[in-house]
Amino acid sequence: MTVTAHPLDPLTAEEIERASAIVRAERALGPRVRTIFVMLHEPAKKTVLAHRPGDAVERAAFVVLIDSAEGKTYEAVVSLAEGRVASWTQVPDAQPAIVLDEFVDCEAAVRADARWQEAMRKRGITDFSLAMVDCWSAGHFGFPQDEGRRLVRALTWVRRHPQDNGYARPVANLSTVVDLNAMTVLEVVDGGVIPLPPEDAGYSPEAAGIRTGLKPIEICQPEGPSFALEGHELRWQRWRMRIGFTPREGLVLHTVTYEDGGRERPVLYRASVADMVVPYGDPRPTYFHRNAFDVGEYGIGTLANALENGCDCLGEIRYLDAVVNDSRGRAVPLPNAICIHEEDAGILWKHFDWRLGTTEVRRARRLVVSSISTVGNYEYGFYWYFGQDGAIQLEVKLTGVISNGAERPGDRPRWGEMVAPGVYGPIHQHFFCARLDMMVDGADNSVYEINTVSDPPGPDNPHHNAFHAEATLLSSEASAQRLAAPLAGRFWKIVNPSARNRMGEPVGYKLMPGENVRPFAGPDASVTRRAGFMTRHLWVTRYDPRERYAAGEYPNQHPGGAGLPSYVQDDAPLENTDVVVWYTFGAHHVVRPEDWPVMPVVPIGFALKPSGFFDRNPGLDVPRPTRHGECCQER
Ligand code: CU
Repeated sequence: MTVTAHPLDPLTAEEIERASAIVRAERALGPRVRTIFVMLHEPAKKTVLAHRPGDAVERAAFVVLIDSAEGKTYEAVVSLAEGRVASWTQVPDAQPAIVLDEFVDCEAAVRADARWQEAMRKRGITDFSLAMVDCWSAGHFGFPQDEGRRLVRALTWVRRHPQDNGYARPVANLSTVVDLNAMTVLEVVDGGVIPLPPEDAGYSPEAAGIRTGLKPIEICQPEGPSFALEGHELRWQRWRMRIGFTPREGLVLHTVTYEDGGRERPVLYRASVADMVVPYGDPRPTYFHRNAFDVGEYGIGTLANALENGCDCLGEIRYLDAVVNDSRGRAVPLPNAICIHEEDAGILWKHFDWRLGTTEVRRARRLVVSSISTVGNYEYGFYWYFGQDGAIQLEVKLTGVISNGAERPGDRPRWGEMVAPGVYGPIHQHFFCARLDMMVDGADNSVYEINTVSDPPGPDNPHHNAFHAEATLLSSEASAQRLAAPLAGRFWKIVNPSARNRMGEPVGYKLMPGENVRPFAGPDASVTRRAGFMTRHLWVTRYDPRERYAAGEYPNQHPGGAGLPSYVQDDAPLENTDVVVWYTFGAHHVVRPEDWPVMPVVPIGFALKPSGFFDRNPGLDVPRPTRHGECCQER
């Protein structure tokens, strides 16, 4: 049917709707069956790597559905080429991600509930149209009444007026348990009235005012951008990659290569943020369950912003649209979901030879591929950077409104901070796990941990100054579960043992951790079991196409143990084989008054840098910078 250019192109709107129609017709699915995800069923690696332009492409869709009448979850692979369901599986004891319709229906069910209305009236709230009910994933706490049910624990806020920040006034001490399959309120837990915070928390210019003194900065690229986008293929400064997008992970990068002296050298086969979790540290009734897995429980791709409604990038921007699905299996276009642009990134390198009086300096340019998702109160921006020095970086930008609560005047809880009169922000952490299917000059790679150690004093170290970097092979999955150690200068290096550089060393890329932290939830906490991936900063697994997500396929309400801890159980050997590197990075959030009413961006991430991949600085031939201001004067 559909003619597509490449096997990794995301499903088109037509393909999503056709896949849904095929599965709904062939399986005779009724109206109570919700479609959770419809995404590309990625072809096998060898098929993708062998693909040449013009080759026929066999398209297939991976579909996740829930029968809300029976509470059963199904997975289907739909062959679009053959127009049939190629596989159909019921997945026992699995709760798939919560979809947008469920949020909407859940909010309506809560508003209509007499117990909730009574709790609101007790707090002096009579205009329920100003109330905002966010359905938080329920977690898994072993409560017998939760067993076998598809649940959320809903929290309520109320606006003072229709234009106010929706999260300004938390209705504290109130939690509502909703069965999403029956779409009924099971329980309203009211721990007693806490006054609503007294202030508005607007952040529009009308509410917050506008400062003066800013003169324009103009970024102009009179000849257009230096990248070329053809379909989903992006080329820039010797980099070449395919941009993918799934409803679950959002932005995905495929087949990232660097052209080096006429050779197209692979670096990554696939890269994405394969899950994340936000554990909160407050044990009280309306806080203990807050630990959203925003990728696996909600589908961060379905929550991506259409950037036509506000984009933060400057310069010559090109957009890619994304298409996700709704619960009926219809296509939902997200225009401009992916933003691509170049930006100046300070200096690339410099040297002044004071004897000769000569200077060579180059400015760095970087390519930015980004997407922003809004998950209830929080915004997460995902920014992949590509450099002229061969580096790849991922930066996640956290912003939006902190998850909050209210406290009685004078109360100062142990597990958080007061950010404004009556408004409380619990301590929490955001752990992201990037799945990096590495392909450094070929599929078979090895991973080393590099620590720097001081040499003992002795005949070889008479001045006690000696220290050196020590590389340890992570030889199997059991030994490849590591923590960051900034005081040891720790990093990890992914090498190709059968490709040598001119120094005779295997070519490699190193994974440089950025700011990081350990999880503080106890070892037996539900979230620690369910988000096992966060207990290690680095995991390496042997490639298995079924091992896709850090917290497993179905983290929602999962009791724990899935994902990385189960992927490494067989302790597969890792030397000179197809490896996947998983890097967990945590943003530690002790909230501040300055995070209110909307939080300044907190960036967190990591870098992949060439380390013996090139023979010299790959940015040597970047041209000298044009004179300051020249560009804009030309206009
Ligand atoms: Cu935070």
